Amino acid sequence: MDFKIEVNNRMIEAGEGEMLLGVLQRNGFRIPTLCHMNRFSPTGACRLCVVEVEGKSDLITSCSCPVKEGMRVKTNSRRVIHARKSLVELLLSNHPDDCLYCQRNGDCELQWLAGELNVRERRYFGEKNKFFPDYSSSSVARDPAKCVLCSRCVRICEEVQLVTAIDFISRGNKTKVNSAFGQGLNVSSCIHCGQCIQVCPTAALLDISHLEKVQAALASDKKRVLFFISPSVIASVAERLDMRPKDNILNQLVSALKRCGADKVFDLGFANDINIMEDAGRLVQILKGGIKGEFPLISSCCPSWVRYAQEFRPRTLNLLSLSKSPQQVMGTVLKTTYAEQTGTDTEDIYTVAVMPCVAKKYEASLEKNTHKGISEVDSVLTVRELLRMLRSYGLNLSQMDEEEIDTPYDVSSSAAWKLGYSGGKAEAVAREVFNMTTTGKKEGFRFNLPKNQSVRRETKLSIGKSQIGFAWVSSIAEAEKYLQELEEEGRDDIHYIEIMACLGGCAGGGGQPISRGFENARARKRFCVEMEKLSPVKLPSENPVLKPVMGDSGFDPGNSEAREWLINRFIKKQG
Ligand code: SF4
Ligand code: SF4
Ligand code: FES
Repeated sequence: MDFKIEVNNRMIEAGEGEMLLGVLQRNGFRIPTLCHMNRFSPTGACRLCVVEVEGKSDLITSCSCPVKEGMRVKTNSRRVIHARKSLVELLLSNHPDDCLYCQRNGDCELQWLAGELNVRERRYFGEKNKFFPDYSSSSVARDPAKCVLCSRCVRICEEVQLVTAIDFISRGNKTKVNSAFGQGLNVSSCIHCGQCIQVCPTAALLDISHLEKVQAALASDKKRVLFFISPSVIASVAERLDMRPKDNILNQLVSALKRCGADKVFDLGFANDINIMEDAGRLVQILKGGIKGEFPLISSCCPSWVRYAQEFRPRTLNLLSLSKSPQQVMGTVLKTTYAEQTGTDTEDIYTVAVMPCVAKKYEASLEKNTHKGISEVDSVLTVRELLRMLRSYGLNLSQMDEEEIDTPYDVSSSAAWKLGYSGGKAEAVAREVFNMTTTGKKEGFRFNLPKNQSVRRETKLSIGKSQIGFAWVSSIAEAEKYLQELEEEGRDDIHYIEIMACLGGCAGGGGQPISRGFENARARKRFCVEMEKLSPVKLPSENPVLKPVMGDSGFDPGNSEAREWLINRFIKKQG
């Protein structure tokens, strides 16, 4: 550290170029904020982080104030507390009074601030916001009346996802966040990542709920409701309930869902294995010249990334892997193979995916994933919705007995967990490529995953004398930058790229419990890595439940043209 500053009569260390807010937070001073986001440039929009700095007549926003040697700061003087309290009271003056039944009740930063600053009565009566909510999107709902104009959503959409589907419009007290020309989000350039939901401090942005649809299906005598759970969901549920990898959360979740009325609960990890095999098989075939294809092959299991490519990068569409995403593979398997094997009418099967992702709602709604009015996946529940559903049925997961996951889709390999975080899928595909192209003893696989989570990494896999380049990148901004670099430099040494729209991959997905900061995504990744170690099946190709599903002709990964149901065709902009 470079020098000391005085805060509330205490000397603390600070570094040249640091912002005061960061220094205060690092030293344990609680400073309320609304517009501040770590790693983003400060905007000074909310002014809640104000402090008194000796020698300055006005209060100073600490998030945008660089520290200076000898600075003397007061963070909780009467004047500071009064200013912060008035700001919160003004925000509440035109805010809807529906906290009791608001979806973010108990998880709302505005509510917390009111409590923290001891706001106990309404002193200002502003005209209530009369903005209309927007439910046009298949994934993201907006209620501008609850917006506090912190700009977090606008910045994440523009700076992390490069999309600018939403922005500020109008001025003064008419200012609001809206999509282009005030039209619905459904006709905007939104890629459905849900990152705006993650950063919104209030209920101004929410997911389009499928909960009611699922509950209606569960209550129906006619429907057979089949759930399938993404492995990464287990990590998030464990995080919320303070459970550990060996706590057998999946089996408790199965038991809870059965009590809600689920007929079967399957492991989506089985379809993750299919997806890994397909990408690896296709890569091997292109490498060997067996099928036409260009490098790099780019993963396509993230619907937000695919949507971005369709909207903004059509020249890249021919590089996308043709493999259907695990969610849609599972939906297809249940509505075809499973329906046939159990003698169930397809129309009576209701499939529910439980995912860490909001964009999966959009993916399930696409016309190409619907056949003669029958959807492959009928509903998608985010982790937030799953936890709400369990609460509404009065179920406490940690008190559930354990129930086995249902056959025949009850086994997944350790690789299936790797789809839960950035870099995991690239590693899983690399391992299968190694497996498919190495004869004799399958030893010597080396894939150097970095210790710290990063948004972009590359590595080379050596097979004999060949070097195969793998890369992984998360967030659209990083993906775009990386792809442009590859194009400009004319590089041909990268053969496979995993792209995930959310920072950290699905661990940081838009459907995860609301997280403040990147720490949760890191912890979820660590959980997935622990689970990988516990899995007895190490490779997708060793998964015993794969072959029967893939048909009598045997599993021929990568040759998805032979099995139309596994194919995804990407055309410019859908939905
Ligand atoms: S879902 Fe993603 S792309 Fe759509 S508005 Fe939100 S941040 Fe932007
Ligand atoms: S919608 Fe939410 S994140 Fe966006 S500006 Fe309003 S309060 Fe902030
Ligand atoms: S957090 Fe500093 S102005 Fe909003």
